[in-house]
Amino acid sequence: MKELEEKIKNDGSIISEDILKVDSFVNHQVDPELMLHIGQDFAEHFKGRGITKVVTIESSGIAPALMTAQQLGIPLVILKKQPSKILNDNLYQTQVTSYTKGTSYELTLSANYIGEKDHVLIIDDFLANGEAATGAIRLLRKAHATIAGVGILIEKSFQPGREKIKSQGFEVYSLARVSKMQKDYIEFIPEE
Ligand code: G4P
Ligand code: NA
Ligand code: NA
Repeated sequence: MKELEEKIKNDGSIISEDILKVDSFVNHQVDPELMLHIGQDFAEHFKGRGITKVVTIESSGIAPALMTAQQLGIPLVILKKQPSKILNDNLYQTQVTSYTKGTSYELTLSANYIGEKDHVLIIDDFLANGEAATGAIRLLRKAHATIAGVGILIEKSFQPGREKIKSQGFEVYSLARVSKMQKDYIEFIPEE
């Protein structure tokens, strides 16, 4: 998606060879017009596949996932990161460890919102090592849902996330694929 690549070039900042900061339009401040266009792109790509819900992981995936759900005319379900101390039969949980952040958290989903009849599109802002997306897939499987694919805003293609998701049998559709980053230099894999 040219618009996202241009935005990254103009307003993103490269923190190191593997961390891109997009706080001014994705992670802290959010650009609503860009999010609308992102939602339109994902909806156009994934339409007609019988998708019943969009799923994201809080917090930065929510804005683009909401626009995608709105464009597809279906609900958005947000996977929660807060640990639940309350034993509840209606909750699915799985542990996710982030290499990028060196943290782990318990991903939680209520059985009230995803079930065996659901065919789910997963949306997230970044794909790095793919631990978050893999955790989401694990959780959706526990809920007996099927997965239509994974939509990502910014894929760091030099990290193993895409391969990790693809090797589980799922399509990864990324709007911007960063092949290389250096101080003041960023390179994208051209769109097909
Ligand atoms: P992982 O397997 O290494 O954990 O990578 P994953 O793709 O699961 O990403 C872990 C977290 O780090 C995610 O945020 C992701 O958005 C963020 N992240 C990964 N690479 C980058 C990067 O280059 N730049 C920025 N800004 N973030 C990156 P999260 O912990 O789920 O939090 P949230 O931002 O969604 O609240
Ligand atoms: Na995220
Ligand atoms: Na993030």
